[in-house]
Amino acid sequence: MIKKIAILISGHGSNMEAIVKNCKNGNLKNLCEVVLVLSNKKKAEGLKIAKSYGIETSYIISKGKKRKEFDIELINYLKKYDLDYIILAGFMRILSSEFINEYKNKIINIHPADTNKFQGLGAYEWAFENKLIETKITVHFVDTGVDTGEVIGKCKVDLTDAKTLSEIKKRGLKVEHKFYSEMLKKIFEKNS
Ligand code: GRF
Repeated sequence: MIKKIAILISGHGSNMEAIVKNCKNGNLKNLCEVVLVLSNKKKAEGLKIAKSYGIETSYIISKGKKRKEFDIELINYLKKYDLDYIILAGFMRILSSEFINEYKNKIINIHPADTNKFQGLGAYEWAFENKLIETKITVHFVDTGVDTGEVIGKCKVDLTDAKTLSEIKKRGLKVEHKFYSEMLKKIFEKNS
C-alpha cells in the first residue's frame, strides 16, 4: 500500500524537495505519495518549490499562538488527508503531546547531528565551533522530547578540511538529502 505522507516545513525545504523528487522518480517511487506540504510560515520558500512539483500546499501561521492551540488546529486540518506518516523537514517547532499522541510512531524527523551528542537548534554551528572532523545525521521517530525519539538510522558526514560553516552545511545537507529518503524507504517497506 502506498503511504500517504504530509511534509511539514518552515523554510527552504531542500529536504522536502529531495523527498518529493524521490517519490516521483527515485527510491521512494510506488512507496509513498506526498499529499500535502504544509508550513507554519506563510512565506516559507519551500511552499513555492512544492507547488512547482504540483503538490498541494498549505500554511497555518503559528506565530502568536500557544503551542497546544496551534497543534490542535494542525491536527484538525490534517484529519481530512488520512495520513500514514508525517515527515518533518526543517519544521522549526516543538510538537505538543497532543499532536504526538494523535500520530504515535508516525512522525519522523531529520536532525543534523548525532542525537546522543547534540539536540535542538544549531547543530551545524556546534560542529563548526567544536572543529569536528566528522558529524552525523540522525533520522528518528518523534516523541515528546527534543530529538529524543527512537533512532531509525545515523549517517556520517566527513568534515575533514571543512573550514567554514557554509561548507559544513553544504556537506551535511548533501548527505541529508540522500539519507532521509533511504531511511523513509526502510520504514515504509518494513510497514507495508
Ligand atoms: C536541515 O538541516 C534539517 O536537518 C534541519 O533543518 C534543516 C532544514 O533544511 N532539521 P531544509 O529546510 O530542508 O532545506
